[in-house]
Amino acid sequence: MKKKESAANVLYETAFAEYGSALEMLAACKQAIKVREVLGFFEHARDEYIHTKKFLSILKKQGKNLSNIIARKYKFVHIGALKKGYVSEKGYLIETKKMKDFVAYIYTNELIAEDEFSKILKYFEDDKESTDTIHSIMKDELRHHGMARKYFLKYYPFIQPYQLMIYKYREYLHNKGRKFYFKNFQILEKLFTPIYFSISFLVSLPLRLLNQREFSRINKNLMDISSKSLL
Ligand SMILES: [Fe+2]
Ligand SMILES: [Fe+2]
Repeated sequence: MKKKESAANVLYETAFAEYGSALEMLAACKQAIKVREVLGFFEHARDEYIHTKKFLSILKKQGKNLSNIIARKYKFVHIGALKKGYVSEKGYLIETKKMKDFVAYIYTNELIAEDEFSKILKYFEDDKESTDTIHSIMKDELRHHGMARKYFLKYYPFIQPYQLMIYKYREYLHNKGRKFYFKNFQILEKLFTPIYFSISFLVSLPLRLLNQREFSRINKNLMDISSKSLL
């Protein structure tokens, strides 16, 4: 993959990850009872929506350097967050995880995100505007990480640092696993697309023998046709 397309791909995936986080935080906000938590999750969701928008605006700029055929592949469609696994089909994390695990998830993922964004920066060494935007997003992620840490220390003071390390490495592995799954999916798609086309072509051959004039509705009284008719 060429560098420009590779940059578009990274921005595209990151925008989905940010959008997935925004939905997760909004779901948590809806379930929270304490005012401070409602406000905290709401502000976090708002930040993640802003991050999504910012990454998409960099992607839009990047799209101008790509051919139309390639740029089309990076059109952001919201449902992609579910299809790509950034949001689980089983439900939002606040619904499927215990509160302690949920906060540990935020704690570790904000760090992972900050780390991932530093890798994105290498694509935009000559673009000061995009670099500044990504730096400001990285600052936000560290702030989110700090907020989750504070929450942890307040409500789970007996948790050991090694337990947070375990959470962190589990999420690193999960993240790598998701990327690996998606890469495999892309390879399988490339392998199977010609097979799908061949099968569709073979299925279409006997259809050519059908007299399609039978299917014409012109000058036919549709009320005279049997209700079982395909017409
Ligand atoms: Fe974010
Ligand atoms: Fe965040």
